[in-house]
Amino acid sequence: MKNKYKSLNISYKNNKFNIKLLSNNFRELEAKEVLIKAKYSSLNYKDALSVTGKTKIIRKESLTPGLDFSGIVIDSNSKNFKKGDKVLATGAGLGETINGGFSEFIYAPDNVLINIPKNLTFQKSMQIGTAGFTAAIAIDKMILNKQKSLKGPIAVTGSSGGVGSFAINILNNLGFETIAMTRKEHSYSYLKKIGATKIIQYEKNTKKNFLNNQMFAGAIDNLGGEILDWLIKSTKENGNIVSIGMASSPNLDTTVFPLIMRGVNILGVSSTNYQNSKRKYIWEKISKNYFPPQLKTINTHCIRMEDIIEFSKKTLSGKLHGRIIIKFT
Ligand SMILES: NC(=O)c1ccc[n+]([C@@H]2O[C@H](COP(=O)([O-])OP(=O)(O)OC[C@H]3O[C@@H](n4cnc5c(N)ncnc54)[C@H](OP(=O)(O)O)[C@@H]3O)[C@@H](O)[C@H]2O)c1
Repeated sequence: MKNKYKSLNISYKNNKFNIKLLSNNFRELEAKEVLIKAKYSSLNYKDALSVTGKTKIIRKESLTPGLDFSGIVIDSNSKNFKKGDKVLATGAGLGETINGGFSEFIYAPDNVLINIPKNLTFQKSMQIGTAGFTAAIAIDKMILNKQKSLKGPIAVTGSSGGVGSFAINILNNLGFETIAMTRKEHSYSYLKKIGATKIIQYEKNTKKNFLNNQMFAGAIDNLGGEILDWLIKSTKENGNIVSIGMASSPNLDTTVFPLIMRGVNILGVSSTNYQNSKRKYIWEKISKNYFPPQLKTINTHCIRMEDIIEFSKKTLSGKLHGRIIIKFT
């Protein structure tokens, strides 16, 4: 093992954003702490906001960013993990309240770690990562709330992004029709390949209708704002809409008419605050019936830690599609 290891570090000393690559010394493990040699991490929208300083995602003065990682246990002070275990972590405060995955080695509390399920690898678990985990939680919530494929298509917004791509691919594999909504015409063939039944562009909500024609049986929304309002008004009776992201806007100006006249349900997902006890259940499902069959097509880039800032800028410019993973050597 090396004497030192590299990690990205964000600091907001005197409220001024700064990011640099640090060289760190190893230290003693704390109680219930595990040392992991990182194999892969991934670059999510929130990571891109964090490392470019566009939004303050870290909730400390200084922290390692990175919402997720997979790796091998090198040392453990936890009865739940031993040297050689293959583990992953997604959300759970990584890169927000505790040091995250953009690091060659990670000191993590044992309660954020999950043994990588049998059918997954270090690489596959991060090709799926926080985006796939979040899409799987959303789909699980819809199904628990009686969303059935026979009721009609599910709209997915921000569909060329990580969460959107997994939502389409997993839903398609479960037998649902999907309507992908994207701003990018050049993503059409990619979206078809990963299972979109139909692709449409969002048209501005010009009329302030309380209810629109019923177009979708449900929706997974990554954008928020006007588009979410439009989805709520265009969803069939008893349909489920899962609000995941706010890539377009954090605001929601709508009415209660779709809820009280059509019984439309609005559900929410927080992968960060998802109960630790249920994380394992979702990852087991991802390794089985929620596995995205077009994983290789969705994973469009594999980069090094040194490329994270450049690819974060590209992510925020909206020019990329699919999912980016970071490989550690
Ligand atoms: N609730 C949670 O636990 C959770 C977990 C993970 C992510 N998220 C959130 O979910 C959203 C998607 O995350 P992601 O990792 O999939 O991001 P991503 O890979 O960057 O994809 C976001 C997609 O949204 C669309 N988009 C981006 N900016 C937009 C804008 N200004 N107006 C309209 N569309 C825009 C683009 O798709 P098109 O060009 O195809 O339209 C883009 O590919 C983000 O807001 C993220 O913070 C939430």
